[in-house]
Amino acid sequence: MYEHERAFALGLADRAADVAMGLFKGDGLEVRRKADMTLVTQADTSIERMLREQIEAAFPDDRILGEEEGGSHDPSGRVWIVDPIDGTANFARGIQVWATLIALQVDGHGVLGVAGAPALAERYVAVAGEGATLNGSPIRASDVGEVGEAQLVLQEFRRTLTGPYRDAIIGLIGETWRGRGFGDFWGHMLVARGSAEVVLEPELSIWDYAALEVVIREAGGEATTFEGEPLRHGGSMLTTNGRLHEAVLGRLAPP
Ligand code: IPD
Ligand code: CA
Ligand code: CA
Repeated sequence: MYEHERAFALGLADRAADVAMGLFKGDGLEVRRKADMTLVTQADTSIERMLREQIEAAFPDDRILGEEEGGSHDPSGRVWIVDPIDGTANFARGIQVWATLIALQVDGHGVLGVAGAPALAERYVAVAGEGATLNGSPIRASDVGEVGEAQLVLQEFRRTLTGPYRDAIIGLIGETWRGRGFGDFWGHMLVARGSAEVVLEPELSIWDYAALEVVIREAGGEATTFEGEPLRHGGSMLTTNGRLHEAVLGRLAPP
């Protein structure tokens, strides 16, 4: 299923990689602050424009929701959800951890997810029901079954450690085997490929998680909010290898 859309999305990822790699670490990269004080570069704006033009030409009846130009959050029908550069702050600082995220949802359900990270030479792809791949090879979440053996990935430290889950998260930092800050899309993809077990992300937008959740699910992992609910725009995201999901939700539950 979705063979045409998959091939099309891979072509989009190729084009996005060309634009982004042409600007990454280049002299004179323009970095601006948006109204919400987050960063934006020419890579973000020009890649989203290119993605929209290509999608509109290929699938004129589909809708588009993207970080830089917005769009309707109505989940009905076919919606392409794009984040032109996830990890813009990394991109702006010359850190290789950034990706173009492309998802297709049908009636709110993710059917295709692509995370293209050319500076890492990594491309994660998944189609619902067909498994997930990294650079064309199948990936699986790990089978680690003990919280004490898990590698924990934290995202933005201040937000993670100041909210209502602070004490529970500090407890998990103490209980898990190892903690690292492999941020942005990458922590979630490390879980999907079996290199880490748990990611705690206090707040994400739909374009941050739409592509990732398909890859995680198809690799045998699980992604919900910290309350165990389906992911939602502006909500939290707990990604695990699946085996540890209930145990970690239990650690996050109010006493
Ligand atoms: C950010 C990343 C990060 C998350 C931030 C997002 P951006 O996206 O997804 O993991 O912690 O909340 O804003 O701005 O680099 O596309
Ligand atoms: Ca993002
Ligand atoms: Ca972005």
